Amino acid sequence: MRKTIVMSLLLGSSIFAADYSGVIESPDAKKIIEKDLLGPVKVYTMPSGCITTDPEAIARGAFIFHNLNGEAIKGNPPKGLSKTDAKGKPKQYGNCVACHNVEGAKGGGNIGPDLTGYKASFIDSHARDNQFVYQKIADARVDSPNTHMTINLTTKLFNEREICDIASYIVSPK
Ligand code: HEC
Repeated sequence: MRKTIVMSLLLGSSIFAADYSGVIESPDAKKIIEKDLLGPVKVYTMPSGCITTDPEAIARGAFIFHNLNGEAIKGNPPKGLSKTDAKGKPKQYGNCVACHNVEGAKGGGNIGPDLTGYKASFIDSHARDNQFVYQKIADARVDSPNTHMTINLTTKLFNEREICDIASYIVSPK
């Protein structure tokens, strides 16, 4: 009797200890999950009148670029931008300075390219155009599939008007 129990225990454990790792598919789940969360890559056409020299739009764009969220700011955001979102939670701004340096940035990051002098270097030289800047901010994955940049319009982090405000700031003379 005792012998049978020991035998079956041994047999059992040897079955459960079998190595199935070769037959189980294990794809890199992190990448799949990230893609699902962000939604598919989207190509956008910049709406007409999007990039503007309107100082109020540029001020909103600058504010979104340099700030993290409505909780972290002192005072009030510029006209047309609020401290809280529709649900009353602190509004998320772009915090683009975490990765990009630009004129007047306090501790601008260097994960993304330096955007200082962008108008002269990239727009006036025709290396880039406004549509490129709009698409980059809306969904950077179009020409850079594994980008570290935040996806802003596809994720609805910002609306179309806000993307235009940020783009207007990037291409404005500073
Ligand atoms: C987590 C880091 C990160 C954040 C945050 C980030 N970016 Fe980027 N950005 C990048 C990287 C990396 C690139 C280069 C790769 C690419 O083009 O996707 C880039 C590229 C760009 C470019 C293209 C420059 C050129 O002409 O090649 C623009 C414009 C830009 N970012 C604007 C912004 C704006 C505006 C924000 C805030 C809404 C922002 N970025 C937030 C990392 C970031």
